Amino acid sequence: MGIQVENLVKTFRRPRHREGILGALSDLVYREYDEKKAVDNISFKIEPGEVVGYLGPNGAGKSTTIKMLAGILTPTSGSIRVGGLIPHTQRIENTKRIGVLFGQRSQLWWEIPVSESFQLLKYMYKISEADFRKRLGVFEELISLSDIYHLPVRILSLGQRMRAEMCAALLHQPDVLYLDEPTIGLDAVVKENIRNFIKQTNQETGTTVVLTTHDMPDIEKLCSRVIVIDRGRVMFDGNLEMLKHRFGSQNKLIVEVEDGLPDPQRLLLNGADEVIQEGRSSIITYDRNRRNSAGFLSDLAQLHKIIDFSVNEPDIEEIIRRMYKSLNQSDVESRN
Ligand SMILES: Nc1ncnc2c1ncn2[C@@H]1O[C@H](COP(=O)(O)OP(=O)(O)OP(=O)(O)O)[C@@H](O)[C@H]1O
Ligand SMILES: [Mg+2]
Repeated sequence: MGIQVENLVKTFRRPRHREGILGALSDLVYREYDEKKAVDNISFKIEPGEVVGYLGPNGAGKSTTIKMLAGILTPTSGSIRVGGLIPHTQRIENTKRIGVLFGQRSQLWWEIPVSESFQLLKYMYKISEADFRKRLGVFEELISLSDIYHLPVRILSLGQRMRAEMCAALLHQPDVLYLDEPTIGLDAVVKENIRNFIKQTNQETGTTVVLTTHDMPDIEKLCSRVIVIDRGRVMFDGNLEMLKHRFGSQNKLIVEVEDGLPDPQRLLLNGADEVIQEGRSSIITYDRNRRNSAGFLSDLAQLHKIIDFSVNEPDIEEIIRRMYKSLNQSDVESRN
Protein backbone atom coordinates (compact mmCIF):
# COMPACT_ATOMS: atom_id res chain seq x y z
CA MET A 1 0.00 0.00 0.00
CA GLY A 2 1.31 3.41 -0.91
CA ILE A 3 1.19 6.66 1.04
CA GLN A 4 0.58 10.15 -0.33
CA VAL A 5 1.03 13.22 1.80
CA GLU A 6 0.36 16.69 0.44
CA ASN A 7 0.93 20.03 2.13
CA LEU A 8 0.47 18.50 5.55
CA VAL A 9 0.31 20.93 8.48
CA LYS A 10 -0.21 20.35 12.18
CA THR A 11 -0.42 23.30 14.52
CA PHE A 12 -0.68 22.80 18.27
CA ARG A 13 -2.21 25.44 20.49
CA ARG A 14 -0.63 25.70 23.90
CA PRO A 15 -1.89 27.94 26.73
CA ARG A 16 0.63 30.66 27.49
CA HIS A 17 1.58 31.03 31.15
CA ARG A 18 2.29 34.59 32.16
CA GLU A 19 4.82 35.23 34.88
CA GLY A 20 4.23 36.15 38.52
CA ILE A 21 1.11 36.22 40.64
CA LEU A 22 -0.57 38.87 38.47
CA GLY A 23 0.21 36.83 35.40
CA ALA A 24 -1.33 33.73 36.95
CA LEU A 25 -4.44 35.76 37.84
CA SER A 26 -4.76 37.12 34.32
CA ASP A 27 -4.33 33.56 33.02
CA LEU A 28 -7.46 32.71 34.99
CA VAL A 29 -9.40 35.65 33.55
CA TYR A 30 -8.43 35.29 29.92
CA ARG A 31 -6.19 32.67 28.38
CA GLU A 32 -3.66 33.47 25.73
CA TYR A 33 -2.33 30.80 23.41
CA ASP A 34 0.94 30.12 21.65
CA GLU A 35 0.79 28.35 18.36
CA LYS A 36 3.38 25.76 17.45
CA LYS A 37 3.63 24.50 13.90
CA ALA A 38 4.97 20.99 14.51
CA VAL A 39 4.50 19.94 10.88
CA ASP A 40 4.80 22.75 8.36
CA ASN A 41 3.70 21.95 4.83
CA ILE A 42 5.15 18.50 4.28
CA SER A 43 4.64 16.52 1.07
CA PHE A 44 5.97 13.12 0.04
CA LYS A 45 4.90 9.98 -1.73
CA ILE A 46 5.86 6.47 -0.62
CA GLU A 47 5.47 3.50 -2.97
CA PRO A 48 4.12 0.14 -1.76
CA GLY A 49 6.87 -2.00 -0.26
CA GLU A 50 9.32 0.85 0.35
CA VAL A 51 11.22 1.12 3.65
CA VAL A 52 11.63 4.81 4.40
CA GLY A 53 13.62 6.33 7.25
CA TYR A 54 11.90 9.44 8.59
CA LEU A 55 14.69 11.34 10.28
CA GLY A 56 15.36 14.63 11.99
CA PRO A 57 16.60 16.19 15.22
CA ASN A 58 14.53 16.15 18.44
CA GLY A 59 11.30 18.07 18.09
CA ALA A 60 11.46 18.08 14.27
CA GLY A 61 7.90 16.77 13.93
CA LYS A 62 8.52 13.07 13.23
CA SER A 63 6.17 11.57 15.81
CA THR A 64 3.51 14.14 14.97
CA THR A 65 3.66 13.07 11.31
CA ILE A 66 3.49 9.36 12.22
CA LYS A 67 0.47 10.00 14.45
CA MET A 68 -1.31 11.75 11.60
CA LEU A 69 -0.43 8.92 9.18
CA ALA A 70 -1.80 6.43 11.67
CA GLY A 71 -5.03 8.42 12.13
CA ILE A 72 -4.33 9.16 15.81
CA LEU A 73 -4.07 12.93 15.19
CA THR A 74 -6.13 15.09 12.86
CA PRO A 75 -4.15 17.32 10.49
CA THR A 76 -4.71 21.08 10.71
CA SER A 77 -4.62 21.18 6.90
CA GLY A 78 -3.32 19.25 3.92
CA SER A 79 -4.15 15.72 2.88
CA ILE A 80 -3.06 12.15 3.60
CA ARG A 81 -4.03 9.03 1.68
CA VAL A 82 -2.87 5.62 2.84
CA GLY A 83 -3.87 2.98 0.31
CA GLY A 84 -6.60 5.38 -0.80
CA LEU A 85 -8.00 5.91 2.72
CA ILE A 86 -8.01 9.11 4.76
CA PRO A 87 -6.60 7.90 8.09
CA HIS A 88 -8.34 10.24 10.54
CA THR A 89 -11.80 10.05 8.97
CA GLN A 90 -11.69 6.37 7.99
CA ARG A 91 -10.07 5.29 11.22
CA ILE A 92 -11.48 1.81 11.59
CA GLU A 93 -10.80 0.76 8.01
CA ASN A 94 -7.35 2.31 8.21
CA THR A 95 -6.50 0.62 11.52
CA LYS A 96 -7.11 -2.82 10.01
CA ARG A 97 -4.43 -2.22 7.40
CA ILE A 98 -1.70 -0.67 9.53
CA GLY A 99 0.58 -1.75 12.35
CA VAL A 100 2.00 0.82 14.76
CA LEU A 101 4.82 0.73 17.27
CA PHE A 102 5.91 3.59 19.50
CA GLY A 103 9.16 2.58 21.16
CA GLN A 104 8.58 5.01 24.02
CA ARG A 105 5.13 3.73 24.87
CA SER A 106 3.53 0.29 25.20
CA GLN A 107 0.62 -0.76 23.03
CA LEU A 108 0.12 -3.96 25.01
CA TRP A 109 -2.03 -4.49 28.06
CA TRP A 110 0.25 -4.13 31.04
CA GLU A 111 -1.23 -6.58 33.56
CA ILE A 112 -2.02 -9.56 31.38
CA PRO A 113 0.30 -12.09 29.74
CA VAL A 114 1.48 -11.48 26.19
CA SER A 115 -0.55 -14.52 25.08
CA GLU A 116 -3.80 -12.94 26.31
CA SER A 117 -3.00 -9.63 24.64
CA PHE A 118 -2.54 -11.57 21.43
CA GLN A 119 -5.89 -13.34 21.94
CA LEU A 120 -7.53 -9.93 22.32
CA LEU A 121 -5.87 -8.67 19.14
CA LYS A 122 -6.93 -11.85 17.35
CA TYR A 123 -10.52 -11.13 18.37
CA MET A 124 -10.36 -7.40 17.53
CA TYR A 125 -8.88 -7.97 14.07
CA LYS A 126 -10.99 -11.09 13.43
CA ILE A 127 -7.93 -13.22 12.67
CA SER A 128 -8.77 -16.87 11.93
CA GLU A 129 -7.32 -19.57 14.20
CA ALA A 130 -5.31 -20.98 11.29
CA ASP A 131 -3.81 -17.58 10.41
CA PHE A 132 -3.11 -16.88 14.06
CA ARG A 133 -1.18 -20.15 14.50
CA LYS A 134 0.72 -19.48 11.30
CA ARG A 135 1.71 -15.98 12.44
CA LEU A 136 2.90 -17.26 15.81
CA GLY A 137 5.01 -19.83 13.97
CA VAL A 138 6.62 -17.10 11.85
CA PHE A 139 7.29 -14.91 14.92
CA GLU A 140 8.83 -17.83 16.78
CA GLU A 141 11.16 -18.46 13.89
CA LEU A 142 12.13 -14.84 13.31
CA ILE A 143 12.34 -13.37 16.79
CA SER A 144 11.46 -16.15 19.26
CA LEU A 145 8.47 -15.48 21.46
CA SER A 146 7.98 -18.66 23.49
CA ASP A 147 10.23 -17.56 26.37
CA ILE A 148 8.02 -14.52 27.08
CA TYR A 149 4.68 -15.63 25.71
CA HIS A 150 3.10 -16.46 29.07
CA LEU A 151 4.54 -13.59 31.09
CA PRO A 152 2.66 -10.39 31.94
CA VAL A 153 3.98 -7.38 30.03
CA ARG A 154 4.78 -5.42 33.20
CA ILE A 155 7.55 -7.85 34.22
CA LEU A 156 9.23 -7.94 30.79
CA SER A 157 12.56 -6.25 30.21
CA LEU A 158 12.56 -3.49 27.60
CA GLY A 159 14.08 -5.79 24.97
CA GLN A 160 11.58 -8.57 25.69
CA ARG A 161 8.69 -6.12 25.58
CA MET A 162 9.83 -4.70 22.26
CA ARG A 163 9.89 -8.19 20.73
CA ALA A 164 6.31 -8.67 21.91
CA GLU A 165 5.29 -5.20 20.66
CA MET A 166 6.72 -5.87 17.21
CA CYS A 167 4.79 -9.12 16.94
CA ALA A 168 1.60 -7.47 18.21
CA ALA A 169 1.93 -4.76 15.56
CA LEU A 170 2.29 -7.42 12.85
CA LEU A 171 -0.22 -10.01 14.05
CA HIS A 172 -2.95 -8.97 11.59
CA GLN A 173 -0.47 -8.77 8.69
CA PRO A 174 -0.79 -5.04 8.04
CA ASP A 175 0.13 -3.59 4.66
CA VAL A 176 1.82 -0.61 6.28
CA LEU A 177 3.98 -0.54 9.38
CA TYR A 178 4.77 2.66 11.29
CA LEU A 179 7.68 2.33 13.68
CA ASP A 180 8.51 5.29 15.91
CA GLU A 181 11.94 4.57 17.43
CA PRO A 182 11.64 0.78 17.48
CA THR A 183 15.18 0.21 18.78
CA ILE A 184 15.40 2.95 21.41
CA GLY A 185 17.15 1.81 24.57
CA LEU A 186 17.84 -1.73 23.36
CA ASP A 187 21.12 -3.59 23.60
CA ALA A 188 23.09 -4.35 20.44
CA VAL A 189 21.85 -7.93 20.11
CA VAL A 190 18.15 -7.13 20.49
CA LYS A 191 18.56 -4.15 18.12
CA GLU A 192 19.96 -6.45 15.50
CA ASN A 193 17.14 -8.99 16.04
CA ILE A 194 14.51 -6.27 15.65
CA ARG A 195 16.20 -4.95 12.49
CA ASN A 196 16.31 -8.45 10.97
CA PHE A 197 12.68 -8.93 11.85
CA ILE A 198 11.70 -5.70 10.10
CA LYS A 199 13.81 -6.52 7.08
CA GLN A 200 12.48 -10.03 6.66
CA THR A 201 8.87 -8.91 7.15
CA ASN A 202 9.33 -6.31 4.41
CA GLN A 203 11.01 -8.75 2.06
CA GLU A 204 8.61 -11.61 2.59
CA THR A 205 5.28 -9.77 2.72
CA GLY A 206 6.04 -6.50 0.92
CA THR A 207 4.94 -4.44 3.93
CA THR A 208 5.55 -0.73 3.48
CA VAL A 209 7.60 0.57 6.42
CA VAL A 210 7.99 4.12 7.73
CA LEU A 211 10.55 4.25 10.49
CA THR A 212 11.80 7.04 12.72
CA THR A 213 15.07 6.50 14.52
CA HIS A 214 18.12 8.23 15.93
CA ASP A 215 20.08 5.03 15.43
CA MET A 216 22.25 5.21 12.33
CA PRO A 217 22.82 1.45 11.90
CA ASP A 218 19.00 1.08 11.73
CA ILE A 219 19.05 3.36 8.72
CA GLU A 220 21.98 1.71 7.00
CA LYS A 221 20.56 -1.74 7.50
CA LEU A 222 16.95 -0.98 6.59
CA CYS A 223 16.26 2.19 4.67
CA SER A 224 16.59 2.44 0.92
CA ARG A 225 15.34 6.00 1.18
CA VAL A 226 15.43 8.68 3.85
CA ILE A 227 13.28 11.76 4.37
CA VAL A 228 14.94 14.26 6.68
CA ILE A 229 12.81 16.89 8.35
CA ASP A 230 13.70 19.86 10.52
CA ARG A 231 11.28 22.20 12.26
CA GLY A 232 8.39 20.59 10.45
CA ARG A 233 9.82 20.91 6.93
CA VAL A 234 11.37 18.43 4.53
CA MET A 235 15.10 19.12 4.16
CA PHE A 236 16.13 16.08 2.17
CA ASP A 237 14.31 13.27 0.40
CA GLY A 238 16.35 10.68 -1.46
CA ASN A 239 18.47 7.59 -1.11
CA LEU A 240 21.43 7.14 1.19
CA GLU A 241 23.93 7.41 -1.65
CA MET A 242 22.60 10.86 -2.53
CA LEU A 243 22.79 11.86 1.11
CA LYS A 244 26.38 10.64 1.29
CA HIS A 245 27.24 12.54 -1.85
CA ARG A 246 25.69 15.77 -0.58
CA PHE A 247 26.97 15.73 3.01
CA GLY A 248 29.63 13.03 3.09
CA SER A 249 32.30 14.23 0.70
CA GLN A 250 34.83 15.04 3.40
CA ASN A 251 37.45 12.33 3.83
CA LYS A 252 40.22 12.12 6.38
CA LEU A 253 43.74 11.08 5.46
CA ILE A 254 45.69 9.96 8.51
CA VAL A 255 49.40 9.90 7.87
CA GLU A 256 52.56 9.33 9.86
CA VAL A 257 55.98 10.37 8.57
CA GLU A 258 59.39 9.35 9.87
CA ASP A 259 60.98 12.68 10.74
CA GLY A 260 58.57 14.70 12.90
CA LEU A 261 55.42 16.28 11.49
CA PRO A 262 54.64 17.65 8.03
CA ASP A 263 54.02 21.38 7.66
CA PRO A 264 50.28 22.05 8.04
CA GLN A 265 50.49 25.31 6.05
CA ARG A 266 51.77 23.46 3.02
CA LEU A 267 48.92 20.95 3.28
CA LEU A 268 46.36 23.74 3.58
CA LEU A 269 47.85 25.47 0.54
CA ASN A 270 47.52 22.18 -1.32
CA GLY A 271 43.77 22.17 -0.70
CA ALA A 272 43.29 20.53 2.73
CA ASP A 273 40.28 21.89 4.64
CA GLU A 274 41.81 21.19 8.04
CA VAL A 275 44.99 19.68 9.47
CA ILE A 276 45.07 18.34 13.01
CA GLN A 277 48.15 16.84 14.61
CA GLU A 278 47.55 14.06 17.08
CA GLY A 279 50.64 12.45 18.59
CA ARG A 280 52.80 11.37 15.67
CA SER A 281 49.90 11.42 13.19
CA SER A 282 48.56 14.21 11.03
CA ILE A 283 44.85 14.09 10.26
CA ILE A 284 44.16 15.83 6.97
CA THR A 285 40.53 16.59 6.13
CA TYR A 286 39.73 17.23 2.46
CA ASP A 287 36.79 17.24 0.09
CA ARG A 288 37.04 14.15 -2.10
CA ASN A 289 35.14 15.90 -4.90
CA ARG A 290 38.05 18.34 -5.21
CA ARG A 291 41.18 16.56 -3.94
CA ASN A 292 42.42 13.03 -3.47
CA SER A 293 44.67 11.27 -0.99
CA ALA A 294 47.25 10.34 -3.65
CA GLY A 295 47.88 14.06 -4.31
CA PHE A 296 48.66 14.76 -0.66
CA LEU A 297 50.76 11.61 -0.30
CA SER A 298 52.94 12.28 -3.33
CA ASP A 299 53.51 15.85 -2.15
CA LEU A 300 54.43 14.65 1.35
CA ALA A 301 56.74 12.00 -0.09
CA GLN A 302 58.90 14.71 -1.64
CA LEU A 303 59.96 15.92 1.83
CA HIS A 304 59.35 12.98 4.16
CA LYS A 305 59.49 9.25 4.40
CA ILE A 306 55.92 8.05 4.91
CA ILE A 307 55.67 5.30 7.54
CA ASP A 308 51.96 4.68 7.53
CA PHE A 309 48.72 6.11 6.21
CA SER A 310 44.99 5.36 6.04
CA VAL A 311 41.91 7.04 4.56
CA ASN A 312 38.62 7.30 6.46
CA GLU A 313 35.35 7.99 4.75
CA PRO A 314 32.68 9.47 6.99
CA ASP A 315 30.14 6.98 8.31
CA ILE A 316 26.45 7.65 8.19
CA GLU A 317 26.46 8.96 11.77
CA GLU A 318 29.03 11.58 10.82
CA ILE A 319 27.09 12.47 7.67
CA ILE A 320 23.84 13.02 9.56
CA ARG A 321 25.72 15.06 12.18
CA ARG A 322 27.09 17.28 9.43
CA MET A 323 23.70 17.61 7.83
CA TYR A 324 22.05 18.64 11.13
CA LYS A 325 24.88 21.11 11.69
CA SER A 326 24.35 22.60 8.25
CA LEU A 327 20.60 22.85 8.99
CA ASN A 328 21.45 24.92 12.06
CA GLN A 329 23.85 27.09 10.07
CA SER A 330 21.30 27.77 7.35
CA ASP A 331 18.93 28.80 10.15
CA VAL A 332 21.48 31.32 11.43
CA GLU A 333 22.03 32.58 7.88
CA SER A 334 18.30 32.98 7.21
CA ARG A 335 17.83 34.87 10.47
CA ASN A 336 20.64 37.29 9.70
N1 LIG B 1 0.28 17.36 21.94
C1 LIG B 1 1.11 18.38 21.74
N2 LIG B 1 0.81 19.62 22.17
C2 LIG B 1 1.64 20.65 21.95
N3 LIG B 1 2.83 20.56 21.33
C3 LIG B 1 3.20 19.35 20.87
C4 LIG B 1 2.36 18.19 21.07
N4 LIG B 1 3.00 17.13 20.49
C5 LIG B 1 4.17 17.59 19.98
N5 LIG B 1 4.28 18.93 20.21
C6 LIG B 1 5.40 19.79 19.77
O1 LIG B 1 5.59 19.59 18.38
C7 LIG B 1 6.98 19.58 18.05
C8 LIG B 1 7.31 18.28 17.33
O2 LIG B 1 7.21 17.19 18.23
P1 LIG B 1 7.41 15.67 17.79
O3 LIG B 1 7.09 14.81 18.95
O4 LIG B 1 6.68 15.42 16.52
O5 LIG B 1 8.99 15.64 17.50
P2 LIG B 1 9.94 14.42 17.08
O6 LIG B 1 10.53 14.78 15.76
O7 LIG B 1 9.21 13.15 17.19
O8 LIG B 1 11.10 14.52 18.16
P3 LIG B 1 11.91 13.37 18.98
O9 LIG B 1 13.08 12.98 18.12
O10 LIG B 1 12.38 14.10 20.19
O11 LIG B 1 10.97 12.25 19.26
C9 LIG B 1 7.72 19.76 19.37
O12 LIG B 1 8.05 21.12 19.49
C10 LIG B 1 6.71 19.35 20.42
O13 LIG B 1 6.90 20.07 21.62
MG1 LIG C 1 9.35 11.48 18.40
